[in-house]
Amino acid sequence: MAKHTVVTMPGDGIGNQVLPESLRILKALGFDAEYVHGDIGWEFWRSEGNALPDRTIDLLSKHKLGLFGAITSKPNKEAQAELDPKLRGKGYVYYSPIVTMRQKFDLDICMRPCIGFPGNPLNYIRKKVDGSFEEPQINTTVFRQNTEGMYAGVEWTNPPDNVRAALATHPKFKAFAGTPGADLAVSMRIITRPAARRIVTAAFEFARRKKFKGVTICEKPNVVRETSGMMEETAKDVQKNYPDIQLWSTNIDAQLMWLNKNPEDYNVIVASNLFGDILSDAFAGLVGGLGFAASGNIGDHVAVFEPTHGSAPKYAELNPPIVNPIAMILSAAMMVEHVGETEKSERIKKAVAAVVKEGKVRTYDMMRFTGGPKAISQGAASTTQMTDAILAKLK
Ligand code: NAI
Ligand code: MG
Repeated sequence: MAKHTVVTMPGDGIGNQVLPESLRILKALGFDAEYVHGDIGWEFWRSEGNALPDRTIDLLSKHKLGLFGAITSKPNKEAQAELDPKLRGKGYVYYSPIVTMRQKFDLDICMRPCIGFPGNPLNYIRKKVDGSFEEPQINTTVFRQNTEGMYAGVEWTNPPDNVRAALATHPKFKAFAGTPGADLAVSMRIITRPAARRIVTAAFEFARRKKFKGVTICEKPNVVRETSGMMEETAKDVQKNYPDIQLWSTNIDAQLMWLNKNPEDYNVIVASNLFGDILSDAFAGLVGGLGFAASGNIGDHVAVFEPTHGSAPKYAELNPPIVNPIAMILSAAMMVEHVGETEKSERIKKAVAAVVKEGKVRTYDMMRFTGGPKAISQGAASTTQMTDAILAKLK
């Protein structure tokens, strides 16, 4: 029996192109695993009214490790229109399967490494005072609280009377008291101390493992006093258990302004859900964008790894496929590290680094081409060719 069983969920669109590429890498690596397919995505919404069927949930509960490609989500009206006519009008509601997965398994830790590979033409460069350019070596991992905060989902347009009455007990609500319900939208930002503690602890543990000097908590406690305040207070408290690691604090707005000043100074950043989402995209943009952005959704029992990109429907039917498999392959590398096989994970990352550095094989995004069937004749590598190149470096 293999040591691990991985539930593979290619999902929609280019998820079906990139996920098999990551399996080629894992197999060549000798990662001791079996793979079982999990149904997920738009097709299952249309035919079953559920984009994440229970049988897939069961597989994840059983095997605890998932590799996920991407899904397609559409606005509610379109979702209803595409539902199998037999299921229409029966109260089916589309829920994003990845959000459901995060909630069902409490995958509250989202980890997003944004690490620049030398030689990547998409890397951020900075102009120096003398007019010359430099390329800072960015190595940032963002820890984003994945289940609460601004995305807790507790929100209303036209809040019911009892909610309005509760809000009216807050002195600051006076300014809004005269606003008619239909003109009033409220989203609750909810932070719980245990979840704050878990995400901050994950960041400190990572910093210790990777021998980084500090962790940055990025919030806005001077304005969003209660929720950002609790995040920061928790970070200060957790830091006491890590005397070898410093805690730095930045505000989300200033942090983004500093993005092009000194991004190389931030190795580990931790934030609540919305801020973490913004930060991780912002940092990913400095190191190659969607073709390179990997992520892990990690809970106590289950962990699911996925590229940050979506299903890119406009490229899904191209043959040969043109999209960059690196984000998916790096997500697989994160999974390998998560189960403790650090050396194997490093081998994947080194092979990717070697291909990027050599610069001979580049997918269309790395050449700044417009995507499309022409990309290949213009000299871009196909998805498969990129994987082939990485495989060759693995040997
Ligand atoms: P997207 O990430 O699918 O694509 C945006 C653009 O980024 C693409 O057109 C392409 O130019 C580029 N891109 C994406 N992946 C790439 C790769 N591996 N290599 C090279 N270039 C790449 O986002 P979009 O177009 O906003 O959404 C398409 C669908 O995906 C929607 O239905 C959306 O809901 C869904 N989505 C799903 C996500 C997930 O599964 N976690 C995340 C984001 C969007
Ligand atoms: Mg995002």
